[in-house]
Amino acid sequence: MNVTVVGTGYVGLVTGACIAEMGNTVYCVDVDPVKIANLKEGVLPIYEPGLDTIVVENHNSGRLRFTTSLPEAMEDSDVFFIAVGTPPGEDGSADMRYVQEVARQIGTHMTRPAIVINKSTVPVGTADQVREIITAQLEARGVEVEFSVVSNPEFLKEGAAVDDFMHPDRIVIGADCERARQVMSELYAPFIRNRPRTMFMGVRDAEMTKYAANAMLATKISFMNEVAGLCEKLGVDVENVRLGIGSDQRIGYHFIYAGCGYGGSCFPKDVKALISIAHQVDFEPKVLQAVEARNEQQKHSLFSKITTHFNGDLEGRTFCVWGLAFKPGTDDMREAPSVVLINSLINAGARVRAFDPVAHETARREFPAEWFDDGRLEIVGGQYEAAIDADAMVLVTEWKPFRHPDFKALKRLLKAPLILDGRNQYDPVQIKREGFEYYGMGRQP
Ligand code: UGA
Repeated sequence: MNVTVVGTGYVGLVTGACIAEMGNTVYCVDVDPVKIANLKEGVLPIYEPGLDTIVVENHNSGRLRFTTSLPEAMEDSDVFFIAVGTPPGEDGSADMRYVQEVARQIGTHMTRPAIVINKSTVPVGTADQVREIITAQLEARGVEVEFSVVSNPEFLKEGAAVDDFMHPDRIVIGADCERARQVMSELYAPFIRNRPRTMFMGVRDAEMTKYAANAMLATKISFMNEVAGLCEKLGVDVENVRLGIGSDQRIGYHFIYAGCGYGGSCFPKDVKALISIAHQVDFEPKVLQAVEARNEQQKHSLFSKITTHFNGDLEGRTFCVWGLAFKPGTDDMREAPSVVLINSLINAGARVRAFDPVAHETARREFPAEWFDDGRLEIVGGQYEAAIDADAMVLVTEWKPFRHPDFKALKRLLKAPLILDGRNQYDPVQIKREGFEYYGMGRQP
């Protein structure tokens, strides 16, 4: 099959590379000439395990092509994925500008029957909008071409994106015609040979499925963070509660880890967008609002614990931060709890020495240059280096090397033996035995 993927972000690039890997010819299109030039050289805009290999191999074999020209890609393709960004607008609603522009361009250049697939996370009704935009362009050109618009949301996770795409739990396809269903089945057949889990449904059902999936997962996390807050007050260890409830198969162990808040490019954006969608149809989304509010508060929880511990006196203190990415396995810091923590510490007059196995470059772009220049913020090359003479070690992202550190070395390096564990990675009893003071999320000190 000849496929075009518009947008070379997380979803677009992974989709393009994985589809090419299965033997299809794929054009990846992006408006950013630097990104495209880099991709042609094998330089990827994101860190994602395994992605560089399949991008380079498929590019070298000619199956994966990069271009800034959608018309060039369109000459050869009959399947188009729209995988451009839908960032949150001022009011939290998804900004649909980029999706609409791609639809306009497809309508302007379409010459033969096509399937247009929305891969981006988009509000219910977007497929109808895309169809209208393309139809208007075709009418303006006075041409008649058959096409259908399909909703095929993506469920991949950052840090495991290639693996998730190659071995999906399920493929959700919202399509309103038989031809579209058939093309989508063919396209995905190699990915689900051992697990035939394709679900066909209405286009709007598929659009809603994507939001509901992310909102459900975010709800589990915020719920557990709320329980953790309560556990702290009641003298209960949330880790025991997690094990106790996770063993109920109806609840399950996934996404019930209390922590310093969820981040990333999806949960925060999608929960806000769904709230905004609800408001547009005069529906009060009480649960979603609470999920969002709890998470905002949760991102400040490590800073609150630090402030309480030091009686508000943070001026001149230094804090060691382990982990900057919003989760392990990625260099992405969008909406990361580390950003909230570091901003709060520095604004309170403290200094920060941070380490992350891969997000150091992202961090340099994230914070003001003067913080690096005057030494308020240092990104160092090792986890123990970050601890030297610090007043506390704060664990924000649970990268594997942080899970079982050399506590003796850590204690020697820190000015005071204090650990704030934003991801409940340590056993409070063992930590105390090692001579540390310990704060977890919903645990007893
Ligand atoms: C999420 C979904 O998990 C994917 O299924 C979805 O396709 C994707 O959004 C998307 O819409 O594109 P992702 O944002 O990559 O994927 O990351 P997750 O692994 O879901 O983690 C999100 C955040 O939740 C992280 O900050 C993580 O630390 C936090 N989290 C996760 C918790 O605080 N507790 C948990 O129990 C689980």
